[in-house]
Amino acid sequence: MRSPKDFFRPLAVGAPEPVREIPVRPSRMIHFFPASNPKMVGKVPDMAAKVDVLLANLEDGVPASDKEAARSGLVDVGKAWSAEGTQLWTRVNSLDSPWGLDDLTTAVTEVGEALDVIMIPKVEGPEDIHYVDRLLAQLEAKVGLTEPLLVHAILETARGVANVEEICAASPRMQGLSLGPADLAANRRMKTTRVGGGHPGYLVRQDPDAEDDDAPRATYQQDLWHYTVARMVDACVANGILPYYGPFGDIKDTTACEDQFRNAYLLGCVGAWSLHPVQIDIAKKVFSPDPDDVAHAQRVIEAMGDGTGAVMLDGKMEDDASVKQCHVILSLAQELAA
Ligand code: GLV
Ligand code: MG
Repeated sequence: MRSPKDFFRPLAVGAPEPVREIPVRPSRMIHFFPASNPKMVGKVPDMAAKVDVLLANLEDGVPASDKEAARSGLVDVGKAWSAEGTQLWTRVNSLDSPWGLDDLTTAVTEVGEALDVIMIPKVEGPEDIHYVDRLLAQLEAKVGLTEPLLVHAILETARGVANVEEICAASPRMQGLSLGPADLAANRRMKTTRVGGGHPGYLVRQDPDAEDDDAPRATYQQDLWHYTVARMVDACVANGILPYYGPFGDIKDTTACEDQFRNAYLLGCVGAWSLHPVQIDIAKKVFSPDPDDVAHAQRVIEAMGDGTGAVMLDGKMEDDASVKQCHVILSLAQELAA
């Protein structure tokens, strides 16, 4: 029988052994703050109490002129970090930028003790992870860090998506992957101008009415990210690491944000990014199992007795496979309640 811990760290056959336990602590929202902005840095203690993961962003969104200020902001936050139970992550600049190397060096040597995970953007293949892995090992040895830092990659180029399995398996440091829909859209030459979410033009139309040519035909907007999220989830699960939906840029549209997060949750993601305080509660709600689903899962498990065979419950057939799904939901609920 799998324990809740196994659900959070589902090691697949052949997956690399983790260098340290993936934090079993929840990571329903990875809350971004610009480490270059002293006002936001001042709010860190308050924010840390509200989120599962707080991420000091050094990459996109921080102007070139503020990259050094962002790095110093990360150092200030890391040196003062005392938030019990909340993880501290940073997103460094990409490996082909003028800042990536200095970001990694500073992050490890100055705040490596406080940091849980380093997020690497625009990862295109396992070679990027190998490079980071070696560099981290050198820097950790230099400052005597005893716990290896974990690595999280953003999937935001077509090449990265094509190499997703190899990226997941590239190092035992791999903690998870996020979808980066904005950069991915640009790289794929999609014709959108948004940071995540859907598009009113991406839809399917109901068939024409055979009897009445002029009858209005309903349209249904489709999820632009379904394929990539599903592919990312499969690659992550097969390698025992965690999948996340990334950013949703339309801060005012809390309904669509919740829908996008819920699609990702139902497909297997464990969390999403929050870019604004309003998205923290959305992520907390969406990525925590619904109490009705938990109660139903409990009923199914009880009705199934030793877990084998099949029963009818409310007119529906339940069997071993539905019991396994119910255990996923129960394990998540237990983990979050712990
Ligand atoms: C995130 O970095 C994105 O490009 O969507
Ligand atoms: Mg990006």
